[in-house]
Amino acid sequence: MRIFIIGFMGAGKTTLGKKLASKLEYDFIDLDDFIEKKAGMSISDIFLELGENSFRNMESENLRLLGNVQDTLISVGGGTPCYHSNMEWMRKNGLTIYLQLDVNTLLSRLKNSAVNRPLLEKKTEEEMLDFISARLEERKQYYESAELIIPARDLKIKEFYRLVKEAIIG
Ligand code: S3P
Repeated sequence: MRIFIIGFMGAGKTTLGKKLASKLEYDFIDLDDFIEKKAGMSISDIFLELGENSFRNMESENLRLLGNVQDTLISVGGGTPCYHSNMEWMRKNGLTIYLQLDVNTLLSRLKNSAVNRPLLEKKTEEEMLDFISARLEERKQYYESAELIIPARDLKIKEFYRLVKEAIIG
């Protein structure tokens, strides 16, 4: 069994994903970390030196390397579901879970964490708000095709675990 955690940057995919994996006794993989290790470059450097299109190709190729892992929870990047039919692929290869947050909560979480997030670097708060609103609007259609949509504001691990367990058991 594979679980894919999707959602916008700052939704808590990695933090909550790690906790959930440990409760489920699953392995945990963060797709961005996986890409960085394989490429020997940081995400920021990949964007800077190779450009976003190359990053999207690497993202999709690396994601597909994870088709055979078992009992593993994979948290993917905020853009992953929106390129190269990745969402379709994830739906076919595991349980997809969308951690859903509103624009203002995302902004308050992201304001102070543009670190290694090349899409947010050098943006003022107002530019960030415009960016998040526009991108979320575009990406919603992909995110919302997840099998499980979980409102992530104030989501506690216990509740997250309960909802996922229920979905797995059916
Ligand atoms: C991106 C999100 C990032 C990372 C890259 C692009 C995006 O991942 O993959 O900077 O397009 O939203 P996180 O959502 O884990 O920050």
